[in-house]
Amino acid sequence: MQHSRFPLTPVTQSRLAQVDFDNLGFGSTFSDHMFSMVYEDGAWTNPEIMPYQALAIEPGVAMLHYGQTVFDGYKAFRGEDGQARIFRPDRNASRLHDSCQRLCIPIMPLAELTEIMLQATRELIELDHAWIPSQWGHSLYIRPLVIGTEATLEVRAANRYRFLIMTSPVGSYFNNLQKGVSLRVEDRFTRAASIGGLGAAKTAANYAASLLPGAQSRAQGFDQVLWLDSNAHRYVEEVGAMNIFFKIAGRVVTPPLGGSILPGVVRDSALTLLRDWDIPVEERRIAIDEVIEAFRSGDLEEVFGAGTAAVICPVASIGYQDEIYSIAGTPPGELTLRLYDELTGIQYGKIKDRHDWNQYVALPD
Ligand SMILES: Cc1ncc(COP(=O)(O)O)c(C=O)c1O
Repeated sequence: MQHSRFPLTPVTQSRLAQVDFDNLGFGSTFSDHMFSMVYEDGAWTNPEIMPYQALAIEPGVAMLHYGQTVFDGYKAFRGEDGQARIFRPDRNASRLHDSCQRLCIPIMPLAELTEIMLQATRELIELDHAWIPSQWGHSLYIRPLVIGTEATLEVRAANRYRFLIMTSPVGSYFNNLQKGVSLRVEDRFTRAASIGGLGAAKTAANYAASLLPGAQSRAQGFDQVLWLDSNAHRYVEEVGAMNIFFKIAGRVVTPPLGGSILPGVVRDSALTLLRDWDIPVEERRIAIDEVIEAFRSGDLEEVFGAGTAAVICPVASIGYQDEIYSIAGTPPGELTLRLYDELTGIQYGKIKDRHDWNQYVALPD
């Protein structure tokens, strides 16, 4: 084990034996330990690793009322070579830093945050290595969270915070590489404001805004919502927990990062691979009418989502204004599958990591 930097209070009794690794679901089981740090009197202090536990929080804490909270999510994968691979955690540190700034959270400088997140993740993985699932498609999901903890009902940034990192063994988010997901285009509610809002931050409000349309979609038999822009209700934005890609007449189109959608790490990775493979990609606004027209003309070849939870997920159908458009062929499409295979190959150590995306942690036998 490498040198531990953070003080550790270990659990007295592990909960591992109670975990059913064959039925993990997503994010309902938490590993034994978590990382914790506090912000008070203008400084981040007390980094430590402790048992995963309930927090004592006063009901008057502003975060509970006004939502000053941000989070992020990345994964570690158990490789057959006895190493865990953490996929691009530096990108998540950078996004968490941006989210904190947007939510007026006095986060430490990016280099320091990145270093602490990485070291804490490594130490958690070493300590709770037995919690990393070994089944293909399963992984250890890592969830950093920053919350304001000052009790005040004034609407302003808190002066006390807690920074936590918890980990959770997870199965596949959508168990449907073969089946694909169905999306319903939401043309009434929006997830985030098109300009000047919170859309690019990984913060509670965006997910709260998605709950009602998400429930309505499921009630109508769809898996997920496909969001449109908040102004014209015309331009495609993203899916619940994924960025969206369309392959139209040989070209791959994905909405640009403009402040309203989450800058996905898997989105960036997919774009990098597509460019490596000399496949034409366009990061540009795409109207839902253009998608429907491409469907009608037969040019819409593949649609897929990209995100940490699902990796690459084929979209089988899109529902828009009382019509259902079933994407040609049996999912996954050729390019969708190629991206899925390449990304999971890199994550599990079966394919060379040419872009140095992984961080490695040696696991005990
Ligand atoms: C709203 C939203 N869009 C996109 C993504 C994909 O981002 P990433 O690839 O970093 O997981 C996520 C998941 O984190 C998300 O919650």
